[in-house]
Formats: sequence, C-alpha cells, structure tokens
Amino acid sequence: MTMNNAQAAEAIRAHHGEMATTLRRGVAALGAAVQARQGHFDQQQAVLDYLDHELLPHAAAEERTVYAAADVGPAALLVRAMRDEHVNLIAHIDAFRKASDAIQAVALSSAILALFDSHLAKENDLLIPALQADPSVSLAELLDGMHELLG
Ligand SMILES: [Fe+2]
Ligand SMILES: [Fe+2]
Repeated sequence: MTMNNAQAAEAIRAHHGEMATTLRRGVAALGAAVQARQGHFDQQQAVLDYLDHELLPHAAAEERTVYAAADVGPAALLVRAMRDEHVNLIAHIDAFRKASDAIQAVALSSAILALFDSHLAKENDLLIPALQADPSVSLAELLDGMHELLG
C-alpha cells in the first residue's frame, strides 16, 4: 500500500473515528445494562477488552512513531501534553479494570470516553497538521504497516 501524506493523515483520522464510535457503543451498552439493573460484567469486560486490545496498543504504537517524529521543533510541547494524556488514560483504564461495582464502572467508562474524545480531537486537529506541515517528516512512511494506527 503506497499512500501520500494527505492519505496517511486521512487514514489516521478515519481510524480515530472508528475507535471513538466503537468505544462510545460499548460505554452506552454498559450504561444501559446498569440502568436496566441487569448484570453488567459482560459489558464491562467487553469495554475492557477493547481498551486492552485496541486503544492501549494504539497509544503505544503512536508514541513510537508519530509522537516521536513530532517531539522536536514547535510541536514538542504538544507531544508532551499528549503523552501526559496517555498516562491519564492508562490510569483511568486501570481504575476501570478494578471497578467492582456498577456505578464506579459506568462513571469510569464515561470519563475514559470523554478523555479519549478530547485527546483524539487534538491529534486530528493539531498534531497531524503539525506533522503534515513538517517537510522533514513523511507521515506515510511512519504509518507503513502500522495496523495499530490504521485499523
Ligand atoms: Fe494518542
Ligand atoms: Fe491516536
């Protein structure tokens, strides 16, 4: 697959959109189960599986690639903030993993979703444009074979 930088940027944004949609559905299903006073452990586990198998590997892969590439020059401060947001997301995911009652699980899953949404907006609207504007960076090369970043 050969992409140019604009296609690579669009591919990242599309994958972010899919991730947000999947997470939003899982969090809604968890909330609905709790509201209906059904057992919620299956829904909690499903959200956790998604976080463990998609969101966390995505975050780790982008720290090694796009964040590393943007970590010099004018975007360095933004990258530092983005890495801190990953740390915050990981802490909330750990708390969600340990949440043993329904209210805690719903509250933490909603917090994770809100954090993730605002994090994605910064990646899409600030970080990706900064990389696209940097002539020393090839987004397409960075993404080559990175299924964690492209879906
Ligand atoms: Fe990120
Ligand atoms: Fe991302």
